[in-house]
Amino acid sequence: MQSIYLPLAAVLLSACASAPTPQDVDAATRAAIASSFRAQGIAGMDRLANLQNQSNQACSEAMGQPLEASLAKAIEEANQKTVRPPADGRYVGDWREGERIAQNGRGLTWTDAPGALNGGSCHNCHQIGKAELSFGSIGPSLYQYGRLRGVADPAAPDSRAIVEYTWGKLWNAKGTNACSGMPRFGHAGILNEQQLRDVMALLLDPQSPVNAQ
Ligand code: HEC
Repeated sequence: MQSIYLPLAAVLLSACASAPTPQDVDAATRAAIASSFRAQGIAGMDRLANLQNQSNQACSEAMGQPLEASLAKAIEEANQKTVRPPADGRYVGDWREGERIAQNGRGLTWTDAPGALNGGSCHNCHQIGKAELSFGSIGPSLYQYGRLRGVADPAAPDSRAIVEYTWGKLWNAKGTNACSGMPRFGHAGILNEQQLRDVMALLLDPQSPVNAQ
């Protein structure tokens, strides 16, 4: 990791002599990152090819401030278009499997075999169930997610909108929140369709720890 920081430090130090433009820093940062990584196993250089997509760049530049409304809307619309509904129309699987995926934070490393299943790491950012003593808080608590939205029975006709919203959030969170910090599980190919169905069940099934009282 150190090798990433040394060239960056050089860029910052040189700022004292003649202030570099943001474009200079951007180019130097890209060059430093590109020269600091190599492809190994399933971790290819394609992960760096698109260092920042349009929404990441706009959100970084906004430095935590809200984006201009029309820009946020454009980013959300472009991301929402990537959402693919389940091929067979079934949105909800097995919550027990979904809970295993939510608790599993591993995958996508160069030591993983091609095609190996990844975890969802949901608990690193969200509270899932009441029994958990420690969990991340980058994202909102998901405890009672389905119950609070009146989706005690995912087959109920009036639950369609929330089922589709939830699928879309898991597929590509930026479709409904331009600067979302949540991984784009479907869009980025982190979870497959069956895994997404199982995580949907964790969120929506009345029997799951999310909705248990
Ligand atoms: C790196 C942190 C992170 C991870 C990992 C993560 N999320 Fe999120 N999640 C967030 C953030 C931040 C938000 C709020 C912004 C947004 O809505 O996009 C969010 C929002 C959500 C929402 C919308 C909540 C609402 O009330 O509308 C759902 C549902 C959700 N996450 C489910 C999950 C599930 C299930 C997983 C695991 C498969 C997961 N998240 C993994 C950070 C994360």
